[in-house]
Amino acid sequence: MTEHLKISIANGVMEICWNRPEKKNALTNDMYRGAAEALERASADRSIRCVVLTSEGDSFTAGNDLAVFAGAATGGEAPQGNRFIEAIARFDKPLVAGVRGVAVGVGTTMLLHCDLVYVATDAKLTTPFVGLALVPEASSSLLLPQRVGHAQAFAMFALGEVISGTKAHELGIANAALPAGEVIAAARAGAAEVAKRPLSALMATKKLMRDQVAMLAAIKAEGAVFAAQLQTPEAAEAFAAFRERRPADFSKF
Ligand code: COA
Repeated sequence: MTEHLKISIANGVMEICWNRPEKKNALTNDMYRGAAEALERASADRSIRCVVLTSEGDSFTAGNDLAVFAGAATGGEAPQGNRFIEAIARFDKPLVAGVRGVAVGVGTTMLLHCDLVYVATDAKLTTPFVGLALVPEASSSLLLPQRVGHAQAFAMFALGEVISGTKAHELGIANAALPAGEVIAAARAGAAEVAKRPLSALMATKKLMRDQVAMLAAIKAEGAVFAAQLQTPEAAEAFAAFRERRPADFSKF
């Protein structure tokens, strides 16, 4: 297990904590694999009734590690994001998140698979896929417009519009927007409250509320386009621009 993930279990609740604060919790392949395995374990273990996602440091997660994306485009290991994304879409018990600081890309789209979400008022949620020459993932092309409407979703995907935690609450992405210092405690309290309920009814309710077949189909369709876009010169320019700390220039493509 990677040291960039902390997993603990207490009182029927598993906590998966992103633990790479020096890189804003950008997600590596090992972190994706570890989190996917933890979700699969939580699903199979009858004593676990709920999972809560938290983070160390000032950020929830800066999304996929862009060095992994850049490496994949030049023959390195393929990004393992889909392993985690499928696990989160298939997860059949309540999932709770506590979000402080930035939640970029999958950092925001994973919240669409959570059942209770607590955000900091000053959190910054963003899904800047098009600006990286990429496309939405985690079935967010389906779930985000459903949640916030097409126009708002398009502005987030295409323009990289950043929304605050307060706005995320207004838009129905989060249950509550709180001072940053209270978010993790609120998420843990929400998970503890859920864990007191009858698990069979919780699982059945979650199943009735989500169209898993449609989500998995969207993940498959998005994944094919995403993988093709990763190989484009526009994506190479976007990753180089991030590395070199300059704006991307797509004018020559
Ligand atoms: N992949 C790899 N490294 C990342 C990263 C990512 N997605 N996000 C941040 N980091 C690293 C930075 O390179 C930096 O490393 P360094 O200290 O070795 O130079 C460190 O994390 C801190 O990031 P920094 O950019 O200095 O912090 P910031 O507060 O100025 O900005 C972000 C934070 C998240 C807004 C900015 O880092 C960012 O835009 N990251 C890319 C997000 C992204 O596009 N994710 C993919 C979505 S699909």
